[in-house]
Amino acid sequence: MILIREIRDLQGLLQAQQAEGKTIGFVPTMGALHSGHLSLVEQAGKQTDFVVVSIFVNPTQFNDPKDLDQYPRTLEADLKLLESTPCQLVFSPKVETMYPEPDKRQFQFGELEQVMEGQFRPGHFNGVAQIVSKLFEIVKPDKAFFGQKDFQQLVIVKAMVKQLNLPVEIIACPIVREASGLAMSSRNERLSKEQRENAALIYKTLCQARNNAPDLSVEEVKRQVVEEINANAFLETEYFEIVNDTDLKPVLRWDDPVNKVACIAVFCGEVRLIDNLVF
Ligand code: PAJ
Repeated sequence: MILIREIRDLQGLLQAQQAEGKTIGFVPTMGALHSGHLSLVEQAGKQTDFVVVSIFVNPTQFNDPKDLDQYPRTLEADLKLLESTPCQLVFSPKVETMYPEPDKRQFQFGELEQVMEGQFRPGHFNGVAQIVSKLFEIVKPDKAFFGQKDFQQLVIVKAMVKQLNLPVEIIACPIVREASGLAMSSRNERLSKEQRENAALIYKTLCQARNNAPDLSVEEVKRQVVEEINANAFLETEYFEIVNDTDLKPVLRWDDPVNKVACIAVFCGEVRLIDNLVF
């Protein structure tokens, strides 16, 4: 496995792979890797010949400077974890390399970026689109792998690929959870033992809600979930929505003939956790 910092070095290596007819799989990450990230790398290994992982904490997608400061940076440990995966190349550029000048591009995703994460993290998805489009341009992958954990991000990245006519296939990978059910996240590292135990209630409540769904109205299910989570002293819900998985419009009735996904953001102390469940 090779660690590359400069775009030119990366492109030289990738061109050689492409000249040999190898397909490139790409897993963009912000590091502090865990089994969720590694599952994407494994999937990339199954579907493509040469797997590139990027590790870059992208400043333009953080709407809270404190969150950016506190985001874990653990490159050494990340490289160790990747050694036993199909990853062949790690691209970990400096901020100045990715942003030699401020990126002024404004993407337009309409309602997709106005709801849920978009509502509570203004500018977040524009930053995601900026960095992912730059990385796609540099790596030129055949397939890129994203987790369903960040469901709205997945929808936005697919929309961006369509808007820009990028020749990359986006592959969605399932959420990896801890034994307690808590969705794996780099942010879980910032939780105390007690907080982490209590945060398992998020997934438990989503599962219960899915079980109750046919017997209660959508509104009742939504109210119950928020009440149940907020009744826990460690947790405070920021939003809970049940949406159409394609256009992210709210689901009003269970018999709406659309695929439904329930998305939630919860504060556990200062740490903001997101999760979702297909209904
Ligand atoms: P990051 O949070 O590091 O996540 C990188 C990828 O791992 C994303 O596609 C995310 O959905 C996936 N992932 C995280 N936790 C997961 C879990 N428990 N199960 C399955 N997949 C999981 O998402 C980002 O970074 C950034 O926004 C990025 C796309 C790299 C752009 O900066």
